[in-house]
Amino acid sequence: MALKVKNTAIVRENSEIGTGIHSLWIEDPQISKAAKPGQFVSLYTGAADKLLPRPISLCEIKKEAGLLRLVFRIAGAGTERIAGFGPGDPIEVMGPLGNGFDMDGCKRAILIGGGIGIPPMLELAKQLSCEKSIVLGYRDELFLNREFEAYGSVFISTEDGSCGVKGNVIDAIRENALDGDMIFACGPTPMLRGVKQYAKEKQIRAQLSLEERMACGIGACLACVCRSKDTDEHTNVNNKRICKDGPVFYAEDVEI
Ligand SMILES: Cc1cc2nc3c(=O)[nH]c(=O)nc-3n(C[C@H](O)[C@H](O)[C@H](O)COP(=O)(O)OP(=O)(O)OC[C@H]3O[C@@H](n4cnc5c(N)ncnc54)[C@H](O)[C@@H]3O)c2cc1C
Ligand code: FES
Repeated sequence: MALKVKNTAIVRENSEIGTGIHSLWIEDPQISKAAKPGQFVSLYTGAADKLLPRPISLCEIKKEAGLLRLVFRIAGAGTERIAGFGPGDPIEVMGPLGNGFDMDGCKRAILIGGGIGIPPMLELAKQLSCEKSIVLGYRDELFLNREFEAYGSVFISTEDGSCGVKGNVIDAIRENALDGDMIFACGPTPMLRGVKQYAKEKQIRAQLSLEERMACGIGACLACVCRSKDTDEHTNVNNKRICKDGPVFYAEDVEI
């Protein structure tokens, strides 16, 4: 069984890399050693009224230094509190959680990140050894884009047309005639729906990372289920728990 622990990690660095977007480096040698791209951790905010931890994807993993990088947008009280942590502060963290991306066997990958689904694609871009086209979709303000350039060809879409292709990630893929034998995607559900449809049209396999709202984060409460092709061995219905069975699924296995 895969390692999953609850530890007190130490914050090493916290910087704002975009409007309301934070890059947090935490030190936890045990979780970092076991972690892989596409997995996430649950962060406890430490506040008495915020008992449920907040799930955040792994953006970078530095196993030798025992470090994990988390990049998140302030969405509400929990992430606002996490954004207030500084170097040296302890932070309760559970992980690594979820299954992660299947990196075996692809020769030409298309990595697609939309908005706050962009961070987990960075560690994947670093670890995937095949040829990569990296498509990043933003509303307007860019973040993290320069950090992808070392790992593949980067294509950008913005909703307002201020950078790259005006439109969404699928517009950027079509306009640049990108091709591959595996798509990896993380982003808002409407984007993932578009990616699933595009992958079906082009007959490319696709792995989608779903970032549904969660409660327990460990498969116990069923707060995060999505409809699936196969039945869940736990409940015997056509459901998958995103936190435990996912968050990464092959597109044909889930209804979104
Ligand atoms: C597996 C997974 C990985 C994630 N990775 C990242 C990441 O790398 N970076 C990042 O910024 N965020 C990520 N998220 C989303 C993040 O967990 C939420 O933004 C966070 O829990 C919000 O907590 P809060 O207390 O700040 O806001 P809340 O007060 O709980 O919510 C504020 C607002 O955000 C909405 N919201 C909360 N959670 C989600 C969600 N999962 N999807 C869409 N809307 C939501 C709420 O409906 C509400 O409108 C991830 C979520 C999951 C499930
Ligand atoms: S969040 Fe509880 S089962 Fe997924």
